[in-house]
Amino acid sequence: MKKNLVILISGRGSNMQAIVQACAKEGWNARVAAVISNRADAPGLAFARDHGIFTTVVDHIQFQSREAFDQALGDEIMRHEPTVVALAGFMRILTPEFVKRFEGKLINVHPSLLPAFPGLRTHARAIEAGCRVAGATVHYVTAELDHGPIIAQAVVPVLPTDTPHTLAQRVLQQEHLMVPCVLRWALQGELVIEGGRVKQPDGVSHCWNGMNQPNLA
Ligand code: GAR
Repeated sequence: MKKNLVILISGRGSNMQAIVQACAKEGWNARVAAVISNRADAPGLAFARDHGIFTTVVDHIQFQSREAFDQALGDEIMRHEPTVVALAGFMRILTPEFVKRFEGKLINVHPSLLPAFPGLRTHARAIEAGCRVAGATVHYVTAELDHGPIIAQAVVPVLPTDTPHTLAQRVLQQEHLMVPCVLRWALQGELVIEGGRVKQPDGVSHCWNGMNQPNLA
């Protein structure tokens, strides 16, 4: 039986596209059962629809409270019986109740090398801080924003000429490689959390290296 993956988006959905493409190309024993957005105008919805994936919108504006929205979102997710729920550019703070409901299933991608720069404007903050490297983190979601056991990270250089936009693009390229790979591991049940850390069963550090990209030469 194929495992179900539910993907939450709020906008462009380029990570979602990378996941959908990898799932098809690599023949995962899983299917993208639903793409759910909290915004009706999320451009990513059209891609999912065009690929025959069930899409729906749970619009946070329609709800009186964060709790009510999370309850409705959770109910929609549950209908698809997911093994894994991927937050791929999902720009909502989640309640502890929601996180508890999907404990061990929620995986987020965040565009910084956590625990540095949780929250917004990560690339601008990395440049302002004079960081020489930046990147992205894929992690299990806990009740604390942009925290939780780290599964994998991708690292890229910060160039002297970088703007938040150019740095974001360089990081995003790595996200597109890392995110599908991590989700495949999660769907295959290969990830184990032990003592608040994700075990690396193969003894390999799950780090995507974008330090030597040809276009930086
Ligand atoms: C990605 O860079 C992702 O890491 C970030 O939003 C972007 C979504 O792009 N996520 C967050 O900032 C979550 N805190 P996408 O919609 O094209 O995948």
